[in-house]
Amino acid sequence: MTNDMGPGWSDAAAADDVWDGAGIEAQAGGRTVALFRSGEQVFATDPLCTHGNARLCDGFVEVDAGKASVECPLHQGRFDLADGRPLCEPVTEPLRTYPVRVEGGRVWVALG
Ligand code: FES
Repeated sequence: MTNDMGPGWSDAAAADDVWDGAGIEAQAGGRTVALFRSGEQVFATDPLCTHGNARLCDGFVEVDAGKASVECPLHQGRFDLADGRPLCEPVTEPLRTYPVRVEGGRVWVALG
């Protein structure tokens, strides 16, 4: 697909494919990312947990005080989806996150 967003932005998925409260794995700019939705907000992160390489798209999206996080499906560590910081043990290393824009029914990710 043509990159309508300008340099640095990659088309990752149809916005409708990212369901509220869930995650999916997607390809963007030749890389694998995880996409998550919480209401109108869509987040993009590296696909694997920094603790044990579990697939975070299989984790659980939670919202606490308006802040979305994902719980790893393997050992239940949690990451803030906005900035990737670890929120509870056993995760201690931050998760890389990427800027996201939803335009034209597509999710665009800036991989940097
Ligand atoms: S692999 Fe994710 S918390 Fe251990």
